[in-house]
Amino acid sequence: MVRAIYPGSFDPVTNGHLDIIERAAKVFDHLTVAVLGNPRKVSLFKMEERVALLNMIAKRFSNVVVASYDGLLIEYAEKINAGIIIKGLRAVSDFEMEFQMALANRNLNCNIETMFMMTNNIYSFISSSIVKEVASLGGDISGMVPAEVHQIILDKIGTLKPSKP
Ligand code: PNS
Repeated sequence: MVRAIYPGSFDPVTNGHLDIIERAAKVFDHLTVAVLGNPRKVSLFKMEERVALLNMIAKRFSNVVVASYDGLLIEYAEKINAGIIIKGLRAVSDFEMEFQMALANRNLNCNIETMFMMTNNIYSFISSSIVKEVASLGGDISGMVPAEVHQIILDKIGTLKPSKP
């Protein structure tokens, strides 16, 4: 049984993430979507909120579970016996950081492989940051996020809007 882990901040989950989950779930027997902290980012959604949104989407797949971990990705991958780390690559701009993280993770545990999936070109412009920016300025994010979580994201971002003078 080949177990994989798809880690990320998922702040919030987007259609780009969903596409990677769907494709990885077809390739591997079991996929854990793991919400982890990114020390380089400040999150909008709390860890448990990000897990809840992902759980609404994971319902579509029989071999996908959602988890969260407060610590090193490689440590968690070991703990759940995942031999493969899946990462999505959108553009060359993603490459440098992902390359560095893949090498660092291999240095920490050479038995766990990082594998990259190229984003579906229709989602290559989508990121959680773009979703938050567009939604906070009143733009339409319906094509960027899964239908199940669309309204929840709008509600969360709506509460953050400063009232107009
Ligand atoms: O969606 P993101 O923000 O690009 O995901 C980055 C993430 C969360 C996968 C990365 O920051 C991570 O692995 N965090 C856990 C802490 C860790 O293991 N850091 C060392 C990475 S080499």
